[in-house]
Amino acid sequence: MSKLFTNVKELPPDPLFGLKARYNKDSRSDKVDLGIGAYRDNNGKPWILPAVRQAEQKLINSPEYNHEYLSISGFEPFYTGAAKVLLGDKSPAIEEGRVVSQQSLSGTGALHLAGLFLKKFYSAGPHTIYLSQPTWANHKQVFETLGLTVKTYPYWDNATKSLDLKGFLNTINQAELGSIFLLHACAHNPTGLDPNYEQWNQILAALEAKKHLIIFDSAYQGFASGDLEKDAYPIRKAINDSVVKSTPIIICQSFAKNVGMYGERVGAIHVVLPTKDDAFGRAIKSQLNLIIRCEISNPPAYGSKIVSTILNDKELYSQWRKDLVTMSSRIIKMRNALRAKLEKLGTPGTWNHITDQTGMFSFTGLTPEQVERLEKKHGVYLVSSGRASVAGLNDGNVDKVANAIDEVVRNSKSSKL
Ligand code: LMR
Repeated sequence: MSKLFTNVKELPPDPLFGLKARYNKDSRSDKVDLGIGAYRDNNGKPWILPAVRQAEQKLINSPEYNHEYLSISGFEPFYTGAAKVLLGDKSPAIEEGRVVSQQSLSGTGALHLAGLFLKKFYSAGPHTIYLSQPTWANHKQVFETLGLTVKTYPYWDNATKSLDLKGFLNTINQAELGSIFLLHACAHNPTGLDPNYEQWNQILAALEAKKHLIIFDSAYQGFASGDLEKDAYPIRKAINDSVVKSTPIIICQSFAKNVGMYGERVGAIHVVLPTKDDAFGRAIKSQLNLIIRCEISNPPAYGSKIVSTILNDKELYSQWRKDLVTMSSRIIKMRNALRAKLEKLGTPGTWNHITDQTGMFSFTGLTPEQVERLEKKHGVYLVSSGRASVAGLNDGNVDKVANAIDEVVRNSKSSKL
């Protein structure tokens, strides 16, 4: 039967979901999951945000509650509210009607829509998209599957565990005019390293000078600092301060992490035009609608109605902001605890990067071999790149994780001697 097809090769499991499957099968009672980026409370349990619980009640009790189809664009109060979360209430782009929004299947769906739209229609530059080195594992395959050429820009300098700004700017300057650059808006995945404001200003000015088209991947707004405004800095700088004037900006927005709606697939794509052009805006919208209609007919309703309830209710919105602080401050506390414990143990190496980094992840610097030993010997699961989801740490497991890291680091040191 397989002769009827060519090249249907069995692929290895997805690195992140494969890791999760191995973790689930592990019968050790003290195993620790630092793999997929999903928030856990201090008992290691998934956390339904109080804002979400209240919004769900409000939604279910509402006389308008139903399971009808949404429009092809999605739930309008959701995606207009979502644009305000990114750009702020007083954004000139919103006030002037320059933002075209479409509900998507979370951030990945938005990235797919962006890639497909550019592949079909982008003509001002090459179909080459630059991704940070390293980046979220799924970025490359999403864009390659769509037929875009994927290249990388230097981002993480392993020697200094800091941003390779020079390399980043060089690549921007050398890339063909009008190339596509994907930027992590905040809480860079996997490194947890974000440019500071001054570095962002330089990066955005360089991109504008070469008329490159920017896609922002905004999957962690509110997670880095606990503050929605601060975490939107590069987006608002580029758009509200008109630093980027020559091309539209695309924003791929996920509510998986910051509202804790992982499995509900709530997200949006926003195409922000630099100048008002209603006809072009309507044309973009109609083309995004066509893609959605062909692929999923219309977006899922439940999660977007919950997020919309939060975004459009003053009390729930302020509860959500408190929930963001709860999550981000617990993660910061765990960063401090892990670093302090490693330093107390005298684990070879320096560990300040754990607290210097931000958001859900820490790029620990552990090697693939050390990560493998952590999993096999200690039941501590993280991605082979050394990325650890700090959200998986809690008061009950941080000592165990520090001891395990200490053991694998010392073990590989001694095996080298
Ligand atoms: C992660 O990077 O762990 C998350 O974004 C989950 C995913 O879909 O890969």
